[in-house]
Amino acid sequence: MKTLTLTLLLLVLVAATALAVPPGKTLVFDKSPMGAVTFDGTIHNEAAKSCAKCHNKDTFPSMKKGTVTITMDQIYAGKLCGICHNGKLAFDAKSNCGRCHKK
Ligand code: HEC
Ligand code: HEC
Ligand code: HEC
Repeated sequence: MKTLTLTLLLLVLVAATALAVPPGKTLVFDKSPMGAVTFDGTIHNEAAKSCAKCHNKDTFPSMKKGTVTITMDQIYAGKLCGICHNGKLAFDAKSNCGRCHKK
């Protein structure tokens, strides 16, 4: 019984660590020939105020990296990162390549 409780406790702890993301964490998107894009969880959670601003069915549905293919066409169309990077909520994507892409 005692081992079972301990195992459960451990599982809960592991799950909690796995979820302790974006704030304080960064994700790197390095598939673009323009250079890698580092996404800072702290800046973004301050800007968004809620996980659901991004983690909803239209934007980034799952809290897992690599499930959504990000393209510039979608960003320019006001989707994905472009829900904010449109020159209103955050710097505009079209004229600021180098603020996201670093070689
Ligand atoms: C500004 C947008 C944004 C906000 C706000 C945001 N996230 Fe995310 N999050 C993302 C993106 C983008 C990904 C990567 C999704 C993908 O590649 O499919 C991600 C991935 C994750 C991952 C997986 C990380 C990994 O290494 O696989 C977790 C966990 C996560 N988010 C948790 C949260 C939590 C909890 C909150 C709220 C406190 C939050 N996110 C707020 C954009 C955001
Ligand atoms: C909730 C709105 C929102 C979303 C969604 C969002 N951003 Fe941002 N982002 C911001 C704000 C606000 C800043 C701070 C700069 C500013 O005010 O223009 C910022 C800054 C940045 C910076 C610069 C950080 C620095 O150190 O100067 C990068 C890079 C960036 N975002 C990448 C992304 C990427 C990649 C995505 C999509 C995965 C994304 N952002 C989605 C609001 C957002
Ligand atoms: C708000 C941040 C942001 C800005 C600003 C930005 N990008 Fe991107 N870009 C991304 C992200 C994130 C990806 C996906 C990278 C990945 O999947 O690893 C990407 C992917 C790309 C790709 C490969 C996919 C595609 O759509 O062809 C190219 C090329 C690209 N960017 C060029 C540019 C150019 C040129 C600019 C400026 C005119 C620019 N980007 C500005 C975030 C940004």
